[in-house]
Amino acid sequence: MIYFAVGKGRIAEKCADLLARCGVDAAPLKEETRKLVLCDRAGKYGFFLVKPADVPTYVEAGVADLGIVGKDTLLEENREIYELLDLRLGECRLCLAGFPERKDVLTNPHLRVATKYVNTARRVFEARGEQTEIIPLHGSIELAPVTGLADVIFDVVETGSTLKANGLVVLEEVYTGITARLVANKVSLKLKSREILPLVAALKEVVQ
Ligand code: PRP
Repeated sequence: MIYFAVGKGRIAEKCADLLARCGVDAAPLKEETRKLVLCDRAGKYGFFLVKPADVPTYVEAGVADLGIVGKDTLLEENREIYELLDLRLGECRLCLAGFPERKDVLTNPHLRVATKYVNTARRVFEARGEQTEIIPLHGSIELAPVTGLADVIFDVVETGSTLKANGLVVLEEVYTGITARLVANKVSLKLKSREILPLVAALKEVVQ
């Protein structure tokens, strides 16, 4: 059996459609359920529904052979796993955003940046040799500049509607092409290559 770790939410449904086009019965991923372990009818594939940020943990540990996870999470987690394929789903950008009337804020030597991508933000600002205060948050990041908790945010922007609704704009695109990726456990890829490689090839064809 091949076990997938899939992030709950936006990505799971899109993954189900993609996998279905490769002959994987991933319909259970679309069901409204509180169950966290799902199986296809043929009993060939198992799916663990996890928080998106936890997908690399399950795959690195080998509990899941494969995972489907956003590139933003891979950058943040920086784990010992293989990134096999860009699934081109859920494209977004990792941006610095703030108020339109304060576009020069990024030159502030004591910039306060709110984000759930703490490691990635640290790497970005360290590489620039800039001192920043990183303020870790778990969600509703846009609230930080609105309330004065931070000067800017470092976050994913997909449609831009959350920024707009809160009077914020993109000040700088730091990473573009943030999409869902297929990842694999290093040992699984060797031991289960007969099952995994044809699936990767089929996914590649569908994606392209
Ligand atoms: C993400 C992100 C932004 C929003 C961007 O939050 O943190 O808030 O989506 O999407 P948009 O550009 O299409 O508006 P998410 O919906 O994951 O919720 P969260 O606030 O709980 O992190």
